[in-house]
Amino acid sequence: MLKAARAARMRAYAPYSGFLVGAALLTQDKRIVTGGNIENASYGLTVCAERVAIWNAVHAGHRKFLKIAVATDSAPPASPCGACRQVLWELAGNIEVIMGNLSGEQIKMPLLDLLVKPFGEAAWEANPVDDHLPASEETWRLPVTFNPIGYVVSDYPEPQKLPENYRELLSKVVIDPEFEEGLYRLDEEREVIVISHLHQVRGYTLKEERSGRGHQVYGVFACRAPLRPNALAQSTVELVAIDKNVLTVRGLDLINGTPVLDIKTVISRKPD
Ligand code: THU
Repeated sequence: MLKAARAARMRAYAPYSGFLVGAALLTQDKRIVTGGNIENASYGLTVCAERVAIWNAVHAGHRKFLKIAVATDSAPPASPCGACRQVLWELAGNIEVIMGNLSGEQIKMPLLDLLVKPFGEAAWEANPVDDHLPASEETWRLPVTFNPIGYVVSDYPEPQKLPENYRELLSKVVIDPEFEEGLYRLDEEREVIVISHLHQVRGYTLKEERSGRGHQVYGVFACRAPLRPNALAQSTVELVAIDKNVLTVRGLDLINGTPVLDIKTVISRKPD
């Protein structure tokens, strides 16, 4: 949780104080939702990392939470301000609060130890909310958030540096040790599918000239162009070795640091 909070801290917007704060909330269904402090030239309009995180999470449809981690570069680690304590109490209840800094110091306590006499009741305790939010025919339009399970280690720092013979070259996929058990029996496969987020891609086009296909124009859904409405990649690679949580694969077309969202097996087709 603190690792996620430290990563979230790097997306804070704090040009006025220079004090970056990251927060990571763990939902009951084991998803992580993050926030960073977002400041404003009209200083009082600043919002803390903790509130950005809980508002993000509530609006993404989460209603039940287990803990929040807050990361700062201060000793001792900073604790959430009074306003955030009150907001967290209402929306998340008496969750565990983990406060950490960049040198590894950490303090943990239940929210109600920080907020001794809260105003009002925790919304979900007073009035338990169904996990299933009301369905609407437009619900499918809402953005979807994924939590990466790992990352790519390759020799290619940027898409332009992908060598032509990448199909023959080795790369690694490092899976977060938290998910290592999910690799059980993957070693029985010869090929695996790596699903990832092309994190450096910005924007998309619906039709594009494809140099690899005779400079003809194809629709984005009729080719593998990286500029897509959702920057997802699916790479089928040869599985060379697995050492604990690290896969060695041949033929991965992804740059170093690409977040990996999923690993799947290839469906073996019966011979005709
Ligand atoms: N800040 C947080 O993000 N969380 C807290 O709990 C306390 C303060 C931010 C707000 C402001 O951008 C900066 O830290 C300095 O106060």
